[in-house]
Amino acid sequence: MAELDARIASLTKEEKARFLRGQDNWNTYGVKRLDIAPARMSDGPIGIRKVQDEGDMMGVAKTSICYPSGALLAASFDADLLAQVGSALAEEAKAYGVQILLGPAMNIKRSPLGGRGFEYYSEDPYLTGYLTSAYVKALEENGVGASVKHFAANSQESSRFVINEVIDERALNELYLKGFRMTIMNAKPATAMMSYNQINGFHSTENPYLMNQVLREEWSYQGVTISDWMAVLDPVKSLLSGLDIEMPNSNDVNYGKTLIALSTDPQFEKKTDEAIDRIIRMSEKYQKQQSGTYDLNKHHQLAVKAAEESIILLKNQDGILPLRKEERIVVIGDFAIHPRYQGGGSSHINPYEVDDLTKFLSAGKFTFSKGYHLDEREDDSLVKDALEKAKRADKVVMYLGVPEALESEGFDRANLRLPKNQMELIDSLYEVNHNLILILMSGGPLEMPFYDKAKGIFETYLGGEGVNEALYHLLYGEKNPCGHLAETFPVKLEDTPCLRDFPGDATDVLYRESIYVGYRYYETYHIKPLFPFGFGLSYTEFSYSDVSLVSKEDGTFVLSCRMKNIGSLPGKGCAQFYVSKPNEEVFNPQVELCGVATAFLQPGEEKEVTSVIHPNEEVFSYYHFRKHAFVPLYGTYRFGVGSDSEHVNLSLEYRLKGTNLDVPYERKALPFYFGNSHSMNGEREFEKLFNGPLPKMNPHAPFSLDTSFYQASLRGSKGAKLFMKIMSGIEPLKSNRMFREQVFLGPIRCLIYMIPKLGGRNIKHLFGLLNDHHYRYHLLCLGILMLKGRKGIAQ
Ligand code: BGC
Repeated sequence: MAELDARIASLTKEEKARFLRGQDNWNTYGVKRLDIAPARMSDGPIGIRKVQDEGDMMGVAKTSICYPSGALLAASFDADLLAQVGSALAEEAKAYGVQILLGPAMNIKRSPLGGRGFEYYSEDPYLTGYLTSAYVKALEENGVGASVKHFAANSQESSRFVINEVIDERALNELYLKGFRMTIMNAKPATAMMSYNQINGFHSTENPYLMNQVLREEWSYQGVTISDWMAVLDPVKSLLSGLDIEMPNSNDVNYGKTLIALSTDPQFEKKTDEAIDRIIRMSEKYQKQQSGTYDLNKHHQLAVKAAEESIILLKNQDGILPLRKEERIVVIGDFAIHPRYQGGGSSHINPYEVDDLTKFLSAGKFTFSKGYHLDEREDDSLVKDALEKAKRADKVVMYLGVPEALESEGFDRANLRLPKNQMELIDSLYEVNHNLILILMSGGPLEMPFYDKAKGIFETYLGGEGVNEALYHLLYGEKNPCGHLAETFPVKLEDTPCLRDFPGDATDVLYRESIYVGYRYYETYHIKPLFPFGFGLSYTEFSYSDVSLVSKEDGTFVLSCRMKNIGSLPGKGCAQFYVSKPNEEVFNPQVELCGVATAFLQPGEEKEVTSVIHPNEEVFSYYHFRKHAFVPLYGTYRFGVGSDSEHVNLSLEYRLKGTNLDVPYERKALPFYFGNSHSMNGEREFEKLFNGPLPKMNPHAPFSLDTSFYQASLRGSKGAKLFMKIMSGIEPLKSNRMFREQVFLGPIRCLIYMIPKLGGRNIKHLFGLLNDHHYRYHLLCLGILMLKGRKGIAQ
């Protein structure tokens, strides 16, 4: 476009440098004289977090609807529902003048301990890509840009800014990139956000493989690449590797470096112009539009519906559910009144209306008891009250959950358990009343040593502001549960595939399990989970049969089956199509999800349902790490349909004729990966799979701007240890775990942005501390600076 070229040509070098970073915390750069408006970004992903004070990254946001977290929405297995949520969010974004919504957050859940598991969709890349494609399409079709994040493999929070993930190229492409590939190719989001972590020695914001090669060349991505907040180290390297915008703007620390490169390197300027071209096209496409209104009540009702269609019924023994109106119930647990409905961190919404369960119950038919304190304090009087009320009730509805202090963005969970006082209360209640129905509110999977004591169990994850109204409808059978787990619930943490490799040693983390994440691992190695992937009960029952597969001229395949409601109530069924790929020459998991179809059926009704396999899902190929590409995998495929990953009838065979040439694996050398052994042979087998030395980082003194205090302390820095010891006693680090982890486990370069007083020439004190040069003196100087800058720290 000549007119756009002319505008770009008329920009000064200073203006060009400014385009490559945020104008402030949330806006892209704008130039009035050329009529180029900034584009406003906002978190995301399950509501609009538009902070009231634009200068404050984590400040109070304007009121908006809080939809269920990604983990719960994924449990709907329903692309139509995701599209409805996406459209509603677009309407809201426009009302607030937001052009780009920072979501969906769609990383693969590698471990159930992952701190952002509540935001992410699934352990399965197909399900993630299938659902997020619908969400992104709906946003984009309604005029709001999406930002798929965090590209890529941001599967842990511990040391998230510095951790180097060592992932073999096949697992990277088949698991960690697949959901992004599907969503980027199917739904063309406005932006893709580069993650904090490193992959095989490269930060995502400086990773030419991820951005130049995969995104731009292989996937033909035309949108804008942005960094996660404060993820840029070297702005020049970043741009050359394919990053368009650094967010937010590093308090201009990086501006000077960009300006020098622009003035000295014509190649850099050419790349800058290309980035600016994309940025301007983006801000013009999603023009500023601020309708100012939307129907809050209507959108709140969508939040209720989304929860109803996603909450998972895990157990219903003796038909204890649904409840009958005439039964006397006791509701136990503060979450019934103040639910745990959203996660902490950047996705935190200032909600419109958070429901209290008791508001919906008929007076005289229920009692309420608080039961326990969220901070795990023992309290006999609360227990006594709960027991007394439970004795007099027909049924006990007990809310349990993981308090926000133990689960949030910024750090990983320590275990999969409920707090001790909550578990003890289950035991005591069971003594007085066997009709226990548990409502679990947690960001991720839980161990359930109490499983046998409960007759009914619902998992709500973090169900959004409408969770309690949704629960009311489900408890009383006004709605029929239809959610399915989008991740496996293991019996115990020790069963998880990456147990020994999560979260690594604060510097490197080896993804030794390779493609065996989640059910791919449990099914292949025959490890019985508590609840398999895809599991979810209903008040009715469904049968799935007659799978068929038809190849079409356009390169797609259509899977279909018959779904029948064989129970006595109307409800939504969910056919899950799985494939078992040939695994003689190339190792493959026992089953992989390759299609999903949901349908609402009346009792006795039967229907054919279908799901389309697109070429970018690579169902009939595998990633050949020597050829750096997907190649066809010849052999016999078996397809089946089931109600979860454990119950699949692989009844249909499909043969892809041909000979596999240059297969890069030797069966004998990889006994674990070929499923012949349960345990990996130390790091050696992974090295063989990786086909080369593992790219570990191993930082050593002198430590750099990209080192964290924690990393330096592990390598013996006395200054770093002392700094951490002193600072952990000072507010807000003392009580705010997310902030504390950011300061200690994040690189010191981030402190420079977060606490500007530490920037500029004071950087020498941070280096001095880390590297043990007169560290007491440097600590003192920093102490004085921080005391002066208390306000800066708090922000
Ligand atoms: C998070 C992103 C978020 C950004 C802006 C980062 O810390 O990782 O998901 O969009 O902050 O709030």
